[in-house]
Amino acid sequence: MKILGISGSLRSGSHNTDLLRAAAELLPPGVELELWDGLKAVPPYDADDDVQPAPATVTELREAIAAADAVLFATPEYNSSVPGVLKNALDWVSRPLKTNALRNKPVAVVGASTGAFGAVWAQAELRKVLAAIGARVLEGDLAAGHAPSRFDEDGRLVDPELREQLGEVVDGLVTEVRGAPAALAETA
Ligand SMILES: Cc1cc2nc3c(=O)[nH]c(=O)nc-3n(C[C@H](O)[C@H](O)[C@H](O)COP(=O)(O)O)c2cc1C
Repeated sequence: MKILGISGSLRSGSHNTDLLRAAAELLPPGVELELWDGLKAVPPYDADDDVQPAPATVTELREAIAAADAVLFATPEYNSSVPGVLKNALDWVSRPLKTNALRNKPVAVVGASTGAFGAVWAQAELRKVLAAIGARVLEGDLAAGHAPSRFDEDGRLVDPELREQLGEVVDGLVTEVRGAPAALAETA
């Protein structure tokens, strides 16, 4: 089974990308997590460019999502919402709406921020967007507030409670895929 990890932060020292790396360490046997790192190369959505063939990075993202059994998003909060680059990428993925790569795909959302609340608003907004696109959005969030204190110098998640919560999020995704209808479960 493959989980695709998508971080909403582009910066190299991103706590959200670190969260996804931590999730990769918590996977049960037979499950792998692939980090998608093409977000910065996704062009601004323009319906005039939304033709066949789509821009190469958009095709890569759509194919990476289609090939994954589930997607784990880690988002920072920018001005109480989802970073524009992540929303932009999802706007691309959402087309065509009826057959988009996220439709019926199990997805979960976690988040980290330097503030106290751990990007909870951004996570809620992202869940709303993903539901509108047609993904199967798992309930629950993981809010890594005061992010710098949760990771060591090498970006490893050192907060035991958060590690446990992250493990539960991952387990939830795996259970959702394994318990899914036959067509989805066959790829697991
Ligand atoms: C443009 C911008 C807006 C931000 N707005 C918020 C915000 O509304 N709430 C919040 O908790 N943190 C906010 N932050 C702080 C980010 O949550 C923080 O930089 C976070 O660590 C970014 O995630 P990263 O470590 O994965 O890059 C903002 C940061 C930037 C750059």
